[in-house]
Amino acid sequence: MTPNRRQFLGAVTAASLTGLSCAPTDSAPDGARAAGSAAGPAAGSAAGSAAGSAAGAPSGANDPLGVRGAFPVTRELVYLDNAYITPSPEVVVQAGQAFLDAKASGPVSLGEMLAENDRTRGLFADMIGASLAEVGMLYATSDGENIVSKALDLGEGDNVVIDDLHYETTYLLYQELARSSGVELRRVRSQAGGAHPDLFARHVDDRTKLVSVAWVSHENGFQHDLGGLAELAHAHGALLYADAIQGLGMLALDVKESGVDFLTAGTYKWLLGGFGVAPFYVREELLERVGVDRYGSLHVSEDLGDFRYRIYSDARKYGYATFGFGAVYQLRAALEFLQEVGVDRVEGHTVPLAHRLREGLLAQGYPVWTPADNRSAIVTFDHGRDVGRVRSDLERAGVKVSLKRDGIQIRAGVALFNNANDVDSLLELTGRWA
Ligand SMILES: Cc1ncc(COP(=O)(O)O)c(C=O)c1O
Repeated sequence: MTPNRRQFLGAVTAASLTGLSCAPTDSAPDGARAAGSAAGPAAGSAAGSAAGSAAGAPSGANDPLGVRGAFPVTRELVYLDNAYITPSPEVVVQAGQAFLDAKASGPVSLGEMLAENDRTRGLFADMIGASLAEVGMLYATSDGENIVSKALDLGEGDNVVIDDLHYETTYLLYQELARSSGVELRRVRSQAGGAHPDLFARHVDDRTKLVSVAWVSHENGFQHDLGGLAELAHAHGALLYADAIQGLGMLALDVKESGVDFLTAGTYKWLLGGFGVAPFYVREELLERVGVDRYGSLHVSEDLGDFRYRIYSDARKYGYATFGFGAVYQLRAALEFLQEVGVDRVEGHTVPLAHRLREGLLAQGYPVWTPADNRSAIVTFDHGRDVGRVRSDLERAGVKVSLKRDGIQIRAGVALFNNANDVDSLLELTGRWA
């Protein structure tokens, strides 16, 4: 493991961080506002870390990771809607603001923005154990699978295997490809909220070209076993794609250990960033096979003269034109923040809180759609009560969750800034309804 990746895994301990940052915890929220100082474009974006991000404030039972002071949302709400949109810490807001300020007072050079993009790609690569060459920048999660599926040249007789815990994008994409190219879409039916490799094995064969999953499902938080799926896919000459938007930032992942071939993650959820950028990982050996599916000036690596150009051979080729650079600045600050906190500490904090919620709900008699011992921070259950009452009780209590399936289902996601009191606030409401 590289030292950079080790940093993302919380090798920088909370104790060593306390010297870095001066932000207080819950008890003195206002002071936290002064603590952040994002290194935005005007401030010289090469400036090192998000020091002062409040990622290293003293921890306590109410705030084990010492981060609550960095998240204004904790002063307003019991925010458990993180699987929908995760609030950003102040340092990320400041990084975005600094970019806007710099643009308002003069042009931010393209070279500077591209350099920031490369730093951000580097941080993301460190987080997932990839090389810089394997990480490109796209606009949204859906872009990654669009690019991969087109590059695989799917046709009659081929099949793609997905499951019923996958996101809408994937269904739309392969239904359209099935219509236009004749590729077969095979759907694995989850059992008891899970879709383990043995269920996929019933559908994968030697004509399978791709197995695709939402690593952590937006439906019920089920974490797919990427290692087992990669092994299965590779044994049949197929490849594994992961939509990682609901997992990265919440869970530690080493792409090399997992064997996943491609992944993409939008950044507005657990990665704590904004909208408009999505890092895309392509295993090095596949970079040549996965070509570009559109063209623009920004993936030119060399001007060969006479209007002829060479395109990057590494994953920079996927970023073909100017994109949401503001979100790149936000993402860099967000990744530095996560690096300071340590993603494995986030996992170690949030997953047990999700288990606490799940067990509490089961004890109150609710049908829970998230399987036991699941390693993610998302829990989904049916409340079985009048939707209007549930909505107004949640609002009155200041508890934010997702209401799904016409309001009958609740999805809660526990983020790094949540604590046991937040989980218990939801359990108090559900206890009343029960
Ligand atoms: C599993 C999953 N994939 C993808 C997305 C969003 O996709 P995109 O970034 O392409 O808008 C979501 C949003 O909720 C999601 O939960």
